[in-house]
Amino acid sequence: LNNGLARTPQMGWNSWNFFACNISETVIKETADALVSTGLAKLGYVYVNIDDCWSTPKRNAKGELVPDPKTFPSGIKALADYVHKKGLKLGIYSDAGIYTCQVRPGSLYHEENDAKQFASWGVDYLKYDNCYNLGIKPKDRYPPMLKALNATGREILYSMCEWGVDDPALWAGKIGNSWRTTDDINDTWASMTTIADLNDKWATYAGPGGWNDPDMLEVGNGGMTYQEYRAHFSIWALMKAPLLVGCDVRNMTAETYQLVSNEEVIAVNQDPLGVQGRKVNVSGTDGCSQVWAGPLSRRRLVVALWNRCSKAVNITAAWEAVGLDSSTSVSIRDLWQHKDVAEDVASSFSAQVDAHDCHMYILTPQTGSRAEI
Ligand code: GLA
Repeated sequence: LNNGLARTPQMGWNSWNFFACNISETVIKETADALVSTGLAKLGYVYVNIDDCWSTPKRNAKGELVPDPKTFPSGIKALADYVHKKGLKLGIYSDAGIYTCQVRPGSLYHEENDAKQFASWGVDYLKYDNCYNLGIKPKDRYPPMLKALNATGREILYSMCEWGVDDPALWAGKIGNSWRTTDDINDTWASMTTIADLNDKWATYAGPGGWNDPDMLEVGNGGMTYQEYRAHFSIWALMKAPLLVGCDVRNMTAETYQLVSNEEVIAVNQDPLGVQGRKVNVSGTDGCSQVWAGPLSRRRLVVALWNRCSKAVNITAAWEAVGLDSSTSVSIRDLWQHKDVAEDVASSFSAQVDAHDCHMYILTPQTGSRAEI
């Protein structure tokens, strides 16, 4: 969507994956505090997004959405002010149906008034869900909210959460800043890998202003190993996914922080070229050895070696697979070791990768030219 927002994938935090409905203004404020105090805000994680369950089960007599007085007694405007004072932005959640997924009032047929309300509160981001949609096509339910948001005159990033229904990559580029390509993620290796593969299919439709959304990060929520979370974060970054941390950032372990704060990996996600990297090769027993790659600005490439099986394997990235002429000589930097690991490498590159782990590199051509992927 050409509204000036999300020229690179949006970054921030969302309450759903860790807190579900156990949210409050205290949690949101403390999260904003933590994003700043940990340094994550400086690294680009600026959207603080409230998900489902912030509102009362019914609209008020004027037909307005009302923040739950028990959990959000100061209201959303006060929260937006708080977040803005910290240099952050506030996101809110509603639904293109008659109820949200947790049966709070939805915005279908209330688009104009709800958008006005969000804008008057100082909201900067809307995640718009797909429950209780009366069987009406997403193509008919998502544009009215875009129109309503535009009419407010406020810059509000529009995140469509239609779970891949009706192949949004094919039509949502003009409607939203991102669109979900799949069902909800959960905190397991099986879910994360399945979603990565499904999202990969739509790579060519992503670009500045509109991104495929394979759902929010589970890094730090406890259901995967360190290596699995490293793969999750690496591949989401390479796929130009929105990077929305989904753990309790007030209580992150050092390992979680080390993963989500890797500036070199974040820079891949935020690269100005804005091209979604893809799975370019699968080999080995049971297809364990995967190579994912994509072009970056300044003729560089990102290459990930991802072991999808449960014992260590040696994975090779051949230059033809990643989009280089085989004679091209490159220097190679390892983004997890933070080290230049090789120079003058032609034709291919291999590394031993632990079970479920993922290595990530930037290749910078020294001679020759790079063919397109
Ligand atoms: C849907 C969405 C999730 C989350 C929940 C909240 O399942 O896909 O991301 O917002 O609703 O109820």
